[in-house]
Amino acid sequence: MNTRIEELRKEIIEVEINSLEEVEKFKIKYLGRKGLLQDLFEDFKNVPNELKKEVGKKLNELKTEITQIIEKYTEEYSNTITNKSSIDLTSTPEPIAIGSRHPIALVKNEICDIFHRLGFTISDGPEVEDDWHVFSALNFPADHPARDMQDTFFIEKDPDILLRTHTSSIQVRIMENTKPPIRTICPGRVFRNEAVSARAHCIFHQIEGLYIDEKVSFADLKQTLLYFAKEFFGTNSQIRLRPSYFPFTEPSAEMDVSCSICGGKGCMVCKHTGWLEVLGCGMVDPNVLDSCGIDSKKYSGFAFGMGIERITMLKYQVKDLRLYFENDVRFLQQFQSAL
Ligand code: PHE
Repeated sequence: MNTRIEELRKEIIEVEINSLEEVEKFKIKYLGRKGLLQDLFEDFKNVPNELKKEVGKKLNELKTEITQIIEKYTEEYSNTITNKSSIDLTSTPEPIAIGSRHPIALVKNEICDIFHRLGFTISDGPEVEDDWHVFSALNFPADHPARDMQDTFFIEKDPDILLRTHTSSIQVRIMENTKPPIRTICPGRVFRNEAVSARAHCIFHQIEGLYIDEKVSFADLKQTLLYFAKEFFGTNSQIRLRPSYFPFTEPSAEMDVSCSICGGKGCMVCKHTGWLEVLGCGMVDPNVLDSCGIDSKKYSGFAFGMGIERITMLKYQVKDLRLYFENDVRFLQQFQSAL
């Protein structure tokens, strides 16, 4: 037994191992379940008792030596692999794929910037609202169709809790909590119970503006909107205001901007009218000011609101609203170069 141990010992000391594969072979040959060391341990049962202590010690020493050899070569060859193939610290790194901003975010930021330059602050408010902030404070009559289940997503009835249908609810909150002068814009998501199609969606984004001070007039509104149109659609843009109706403004108007694609000559985008419908606006109804605790005899103001999806469609000529919500990277990547 002792001689066989010695022989194995000599063998492993002289062994040549040149790769990780050979380490594995070596391991199986000596330590495997049918390996040479296992044979020795089997025979160990037949060693006379008085010799067991000495032979056992040698056997264990041999096993330790084999294990050490395996560890040494495994470490050596594993290092060679990493050094050779995967990491070259001097090479130029792969370019990082940069994401792009969502077109809705791009346009929202641009509109915010334009009004920021006119001294407007940016305000935020909750998407889940009560009836007061979305309808009652804004002068909506009790039987107004917008209060219908068909137009509004209700979360609870009596008292009514609902998803806001426009961002005018933020303006109510601002008016309730701020002393005029107020000059703010309110971007946000809104929800309406509409069938999803290329031109309508149940979720979309609005941005609304509110200016309240002493002696604010319709002329201020017109001038502000003209400034916005020229900044956003180009310096040659013209605007026109058509009379309209909103419960919370009096008088109310809708603003068109001259078509930025054909310069007003008429094209597919403006349906050959030369004008693009862009936003709703008007002078804040005195009833609304009073409901929100602002003295309508002393203060007046204007408000306007637009759909961000619509403006984005005009700016980037997106034909289908649903693209904004599908997050298809082929669509989103096209906005990569925009800031
Ligand atoms: N809140 C209106 C809408 O959702 C837009 C609007 C805002 C109109 C402010 C006039 C003044 O359509």
